[in-house]
Amino acid sequence: AAPTATATVHGDRQGPTYDKRIFTQFAEHLGDGIYGGLFVGNDRKIPNTRGFRNDVVGALKELGVPVIRWPGGCFADEYHWREGVGPKNKRPVKINTHWGGVTEPNSVGTHEFMELVEQVGAEPYISGNVGNGTPQEMAEWVEYITSPAGTLADERAENGHKAPWKLPYFGIGNELWGCGGNMRPEYAADVTRRYATFVKAPANTKILKIASGANNDDYNWTEVMMREARGQVDGLSLHYYTVPGGWPPRASASQFDEAGWAETLAGAWKMDTLITGHSAAMDKYDPEKKIFLAVDEWGTWYAQDPGTHPGFLRQQNSLRDALVAAIHLNIFAKHADRVKMSAIAQMVNVLQAMILTDGSKMVLTPTYHVFHMYKPYMDGTVLPIELKSPWYNKDQWVMPAVSASAVRDKAGVVHVALANADPNRSITVQAALAGLNASGATGQILTAPAITAINTFDQPNAVVPAAFTGAQVAGGQLSVTLPAKSVVMLTLQ
Ligand code: AHR
Repeated sequence: AAPTATATVHGDRQGPTYDKRIFTQFAEHLGDGIYGGLFVGNDRKIPNTRGFRNDVVGALKELGVPVIRWPGGCFADEYHWREGVGPKNKRPVKINTHWGGVTEPNSVGTHEFMELVEQVGAEPYISGNVGNGTPQEMAEWVEYITSPAGTLADERAENGHKAPWKLPYFGIGNELWGCGGNMRPEYAADVTRRYATFVKAPANTKILKIASGANNDDYNWTEVMMREARGQVDGLSLHYYTVPGGWPPRASASQFDEAGWAETLAGAWKMDTLITGHSAAMDKYDPEKKIFLAVDEWGTWYAQDPGTHPGFLRQQNSLRDALVAAIHLNIFAKHADRVKMSAIAQMVNVLQAMILTDGSKMVLTPTYHVFHMYKPYMDGTVLPIELKSPWYNKDQWVMPAVSASAVRDKAGVVHVALANADPNRSITVQAALAGLNASGATGQILTAPAITAINTFDQPNAVVPAAFTGAQVAGGQLSVTLPAKSVVMLTLQ
C-alpha cells in the first residue's frame, strides 16, 4: 500500500493573505533574458508589438504576472538610466561586464521596460544603482519616471511619455554584500539609509523601498539592516538559489540521477529554514511585521546548457524544477505573514526560466505550468495546514515527501496544493477539512514518466498539466493519492 501522510486543512482559521506579488518575476539584462527573449526590436520575422514578442508577452499575460523586477540583479548596480533613454541611435553601446562581456545596446531602457510592464499587465519594480551610481542619479531617475512636472518630466514627454508612470517598488541596490559593492552590513545599512532618503514619491503617491537583503543564511546581514536601516525602507530582500553540486554551479540541468533529484529538492526545502531564520531576525526589530520580506531572487542554478555562453546562465528546466517551484510556493504560504513578495529568477531564458526561446521558437517550461496551476492563490487567504508526511531520502538527502499548502480565494473557493517529491512511490494524503463544507475535489496534476522530463521546441508538451481524478471527499475528509514525482492542485467543491 502507498505510504500515508496525514493532515488537517484549517478552514476554521484565517491565515495571512497569499500576496499576489509572490508571483513576481525577475528580468535582467543577462544573456537572452531581455534581448531575444522578450525584446526583438524591429525584427519582422518574430511577431512583436513595439519590439516585444507577442508569443512571450501573451504567455506571461496568461500567468497574470503581477510585478516585474528589472534591470538586475548585478546589472543594476552598474546601470546608468540616462544611457537608456532618448533616441536609440544616440544611446551608448556598453559592455555588460557582469554577464558575458557582450555588448549592451541600451535599446531596452526605462520607456521600453514600462512598455513591457504595460503589455503584460504588471507593475514595475526597478532596482537602482547604489554600486557605482550616486544618490543624485537615483533621485533623478525616480523623478524622471514619476514626476508630473519639471525639466525631467519634460524630457520624459519629449522621449514619448507625457504622463508620469507609477513606480510602486524601488530597490535600493542589489546584493550590496557582493556584486553591488562588496559592502559590510554596517556600511550597506548606512548607504541604504542615505540613498533611500533621496528616493521621493510625488504627492499622493507611494514608492515602497526595498533594501538589499542577505545572501542565503547570512542572518547577521538581516539583523544589521533591520537594526540600522528599518526606518528608511518598507521591505528587505533575501536571495537564495538552489545549487546542487555546490558553487560554482556545475550540475547539469537535464542529465541527473535520483541523487541529483533529491539533492536539488532538499536544497529547495532549505528555503523554509532560511525564511524562519531571517524572519526571527526581523521580528526582533519589527514584531508588527510592517517591513516585508521580498525573496526577490530564488530558483535553481545549474551549469549552463552545453554549447551555450557561460555568462548567459541558460539552463533547461525539467520536472525537477516544477517540484522546486511547488515546494517554494508552499513554503511561502507558511511564511505569508512576512513574505509579501518573491521573484523567481528569471523570466525568460535565464536560470529557472518560465519560458525558453530560440529565434522565433518558444516553449513553456514545467516551472511555467506550476505557476499557472497556482494562479488561484493570488491574494487568497492562507489556510494553515498541519501535515505529517513520510520522509523521502536518497543518500544523505532527506526531506518530507509531501509538501502542501492551501488558500481560500477571493470568491471563497478553497485550493489545496500538494507535491510528492518521492520519485518512486505514490503517497496517500488523508486530510481532515476543519471548518470546510466540501463534497468533492477536482484538480490538475503535473508529472511525467521520467524525473528528467523536459519540454523542448520539438516536444513542448512532455510536461504539461493534466486533469487529476485521484481525490475524493467524504465525511469532512479529503483523500488523495499523489503519484510519485508529481505536483497536484485541487479545487474543493
Ligand atoms: O540572477 C542572476 C544573478 O544572481 C543576479 O544578477 C544577482 O543578483 C544574483 O547573484
